[in-house]
Amino acid sequence: MLNKIKTGISGIDKMLYGGIPEASQVLISGGPGAGKTLMGFEYLYRNAKMGNTGILFAFEEEPSRILENVKSTFPEFTDIDDLVKQGKIIIDAKAPSETALGSFGESRSTYEFGKVISDMESLVVSSKATRVVVDSISVFNILIRDEALYRKYMLALILSMRRLGVTSIMTTEMESPERHKLLFKPEYFIFDGIIALYQTGEEAKRMLATEILKIRGSKHSFVTTPYEITPAGFRIFAAEDMAPY
Ligand SMILES: Nc1ncnc2c1ncn2[C@@H]1O[C@H](COP(=O)(O)OP(=O)(O)OP(=O)(O)O)[C@@H](O)[C@H]1O
Ligand SMILES: [Mg+2]
Repeated sequence: MLNKIKTGISGIDKMLYGGIPEASQVLISGGPGAGKTLMGFEYLYRNAKMGNTGILFAFEEEPSRILENVKSTFPEFTDIDDLVKQGKIIIDAKAPSETALGSFGESRSTYEFGKVISDMESLVVSSKATRVVVDSISVFNILIRDEALYRKYMLALILSMRRLGVTSIMTTEMESPERHKLLFKPEYFIFDGIIALYQTGEEAKRMLATEILKIRGSKHSFVTTPYEITPAGFRIFAAEDMAPY
């Protein structure tokens, strides 16, 4: 039996029949503003409250901005600062270096990204973290235009985190936020699980829904399930909550 790690987001745990199998590397794929960063953060927040140390590797936004955003979106999470102070939630700035933003060949990027991954490993080991969020892996794809090389790094990152035994959520941008336009990218196949966040409709009638596309080694919901982002966290309208008829 695989040990299941609760995300702490109750509707998601229901859809996962308990949680994510331990040491799985799960991708959250969604369009801009779907709530990928917020969902990753809530996973770390809920786990920190259960006593599990987590690291958010922030490749896209400054840690201070992430904290401002989550505090304003989730005003009911009143102990975020305490958990950060206690080192239960670590937000690590991982902005790519200036040099990495330039154009470089394979040897240069091998050095840069090899170092990024080994820095991540060091922090996981020194902090004894067991939960990780990488926000987002899309940045790797922007910096490494060569598809084969990009996939090589994604695989290296996944293998490294799996070897350390951490249960991770990594976010990525979806080409289209609508389900019927979903495209499978090659890197989807190397993850242990994929959770999609869809958006449909126009601004005022925007509808958010989540679907678990795969979780290796575990039963999970196949129902596309609406969700909303509330001051108390994600609220998932899981079919598993409804009485059978
Ligand atoms: N107080 C709030 N109430 C409801 N929804 C909110 C609130 N604050 C933010 N949101 C929603 O959360 C979204 C931002 O979430 P988040 O930053 O996690 O998205 P993302 O998927 O990471 O986006 P990006 O691709 O830009 O990084 C906003 O677009 C908004 O719809
Ligand atoms: Mg984001």
